[in-house]
Amino acid sequence: MKLPYAEPFRIKTVEMIRQSTPEERKEWIKKAKYNLFNLKSDYVYIDLLTDSGTNAMSDKQWAEIMVGDESYAGARSYYKLKQSVEEILGFQRFIPTHQGRAAENVLFSAMLKAGDIVPGNSHFDTTKGHIEFRKAKAVDCTIDEAFDTTKEHPFKGNIDMEKLETVLKANKRDDIPLVILTVTCNSAGGQPVSMSNIKETAHMCRKYNIPLFFDAARFAENAYFIKIREKGYEKKSIKEIVKEMFSYVDGFTMSAKKDGITNIGGLVGFRNEELMKKVSVFSILFEGYLTYGGLAGRDLGALAQGLRESTEYDYLESRVGQVAFLGERCKEYGIPVQEPFGGHAVFVDAKRFFPHIPQSEYVAQLLAVELYIEGGIRGVEIGTLLADRDPETGKDRYPKLELLRLAIPRRVYTNNHMDYTAAALRNVYERREHLKKGLKIVQEAPILRHFTVELERL
Ligand code: F0G
Repeated sequence: MKLPYAEPFRIKTVEMIRQSTPEERKEWIKKAKYNLFNLKSDYVYIDLLTDSGTNAMSDKQWAEIMVGDESYAGARSYYKLKQSVEEILGFQRFIPTHQGRAAENVLFSAMLKAGDIVPGNSHFDTTKGHIEFRKAKAVDCTIDEAFDTTKEHPFKGNIDMEKLETVLKANKRDDIPLVILTVTCNSAGGQPVSMSNIKETAHMCRKYNIPLFFDAARFAENAYFIKIREKGYEKKSIKEIVKEMFSYVDGFTMSAKKDGITNIGGLVGFRNEELMKKVSVFSILFEGYLTYGGLAGRDLGALAQGLRESTEYDYLESRVGQVAFLGERCKEYGIPVQEPFGGHAVFVDAKRFFPHIPQSEYVAQLLAVELYIEGGIRGVEIGTLLADRDPETGKDRYPKLELLRLAIPRRVYTNNHMDYTAAALRNVYERREHLKKGLKIVQEAPILRHFTVELERL
């Protein structure tokens, strides 16, 4: 018998979590204005809101926290990080930042002007926010297969080369400061980008003389999918695949709170020295000196070690395997989930879950609310609330996919928690027809509204 995968770690310390009743939760979510970001985490039993900054660090990472030094300039931990970034990502030039959106902020401050166009496979919301905040335009060149949650495709994160070329042809070179490939593609459901797609994109960017950047938050999970799904990579190590992926890009931003397996941190990396100098000005202004970037020295050491651990095959097999475990359970119960399963999360297709409720009633948010009441599980809406209003027309933008994302923190929950989650979803699924109406907005911010939105039941 082929042995199943099991976690390549022992659990050395635990955090107790509080259980609650559906009656308590009904009260709490109402007080939170049906926005799960407003809930105290103590009111949540299994927190699948995000896999960002919610990871369990290893003994070696905690050791780095202890031995890290807190120098303002040139800390020992910074040099450890530098070595790790060079070794694993193959980049000699980089600046730490306090998280991913800070990396976007300092990079775009140096690269973007009003009226610019930034194409990508599918921009994450903070990336889109930072682009639109500068009166530039984020253009998603997503492959059509990504919009059908039932369609099997090994690399749904791929950029559509034809759509990309159309954008590159239709605009002046000076108005396209960069192209961004998000690996894995969070907005498309944690779906990977293939090495051949990365290579082709790099080739096209070179043809049009436009720099290519990664949004590399989940680069290691992407590399794992390349290893198990792309021909020619079966025998390569994750570290070799990661090196090759990064060899095609001119730079990257990274939220290190995901595949860095830390609780805080980010990076922005470059090949071009001039660009690094330009970004450095903003980095010092917004983040801190170039060798700490808004972090404590010890955080840099934990990240240096985290990058090494996240690029180990055994770790990735159990990590991505746990996501698939939850996905399979949901499928057994007939719950409509996106397939193939993503690297960091299972995405429930809310339009298929509630076909009788219109998208304008925020069905993925409704599902998030119901799952919370049912089991104390907190997921996050990736749908109409997240898509914000169109800055030009002021109207709701209806994305093709209306999803509830159940993001799994790294090395935190067991498969029993996954079983519990699937069972709670099943209970909601069984009573879905009793739910006749969705939600309406009573208060919202002009940008990134999903964080602070206030809702009511219709
Ligand atoms: N890029 C991607 C692909 C992301 O998923 C995120 C964050 C960011 C950039 C921004 O990084 O949070 O460190 O500032 N995603 C989190 C999530 C919040 O839940 O998916 P950050």
